[in-house]
Amino acid sequence: MECTRCRKKFRADKLIEDTLGIRVDGLSLEKMNEIIKKDRLSCPSCKNGLSAVKTFNLMFKTHVGPFEDENSIAYLRPETAQSIFVNFSLVRRSSRMKLPFGIAQIGRAFRNEISPRNFLMRCREFTQFEIEFFVHPERLDECPFFNEVAEHTVNVYSREHQKRGEPEKMKIAEAFESGIFQTKWHAYWLGAFHRFFIDLGLSPENLRLRQHLEDELSHYASDTWDIEYRFPFGWREIHGCANRTDFDLKQHMKESGADLCYFDEESGKVVPHVIEPSQGIDRLFLALLFEGYKKENGRTVLKIKPFLAPVKVGIFPLVNREGMPETARKIASELGEVFPVFYDESGSIGRRYRRMDEVGTPFCITVDGQTLEDGTVTVRERDSMKQVRVKISELKKYLSELGCNPP
Ligand code: GLY
Repeated sequence: MECTRCRKKFRADKLIEDTLGIRVDGLSLEKMNEIIKKDRLSCPSCKNGLSAVKTFNLMFKTHVGPFEDENSIAYLRPETAQSIFVNFSLVRRSSRMKLPFGIAQIGRAFRNEISPRNFLMRCREFTQFEIEFFVHPERLDECPFFNEVAEHTVNVYSREHQKRGEPEKMKIAEAFESGIFQTKWHAYWLGAFHRFFIDLGLSPENLRLRQHLEDELSHYASDTWDIEYRFPFGWREIHGCANRTDFDLKQHMKESGADLCYFDEESGKVVPHVIEPSQGIDRLFLALLFEGYKKENGRTVLKIKPFLAPVKVGIFPLVNREGMPETARKIASELGEVFPVFYDESGSIGRRYRRMDEVGTPFCITVDGQTLEDGTVTVRERDSMKQVRVKISELKKYLSELGCNPP
């Protein structure tokens, strides 16, 4: 909708959600217009009246080739999913896959958001990866990996819990057995991604699994759960996991006439069902930054896990004389073969530590007077700020054991 005076455009659903704190996913235009009128919502910018709500295509329209006519119209993809469905049979045949199996894809997706905001949260161009996991329609509860996540605890915020307003801590197996998760494969993927986020460093209390309300479900989904993160601006989806049933394969079959069925030796021709974990990379990255970014005891520090840090080791000479820079450069060159390192000889040692703290560098090595006598350096750890003396010859081993490499 548009402000009748300043002509700025707004997303009605987000304005209602942000101003009144109610969810509007799935509401009709009439209903939204009613709410806006009843609660007298006005332009957030100049406080004047708003036009009626109109539908808007979130897909970017463009033309392919040198001529712009009806036949050259194309749309930038709003999700990576569809090329997987189009390629389903090709991948299955060329890789000789048997159900159940998944196809994953990572890439750019585009949505013409009316109001991009909150840093990387809502962008017009973003990176996502999706797994379309194909399962025999009668075997959605046959998941051989379920034990890997069965005992994993999550905050469950089902439709029932949302009515009560409180999520509940449950084990994945418990939530599946009590019917909250409708299929074992869906429960498995939610558990696996939740565990992945914890392994990356997100705190369990900042995560919850929220089920879409009936009127919020996408047209293709029979059940969808979001893994939400508690951002400073509220709980937001960082991962979505939908049961897309056989909707997409059937739809592509109908429109193209191609046969995308799977031949199963026991049951004959079937159209597989699909569980789709869908991951916004930028949102996860943003969550990790919020989780790690701290201001404490007069310093700013990014507490991310060492294997995620872009620079693993800062290397400094204590002073720029007495051979210290030469020794520090030599260490930087040797360690640089194994880890990304940053050599810095400018400013006070305190300032050099602070600069590394801010970009999340987990370890800093300082060459000092003692180094030249006994071949040891100090290794200072980012979070505790504790320092230990380590022999130069043992640095590679010492740092490898402290989690600089991906698990
Ligand atoms: N494929 C689902 C989504 O991108 O939201």
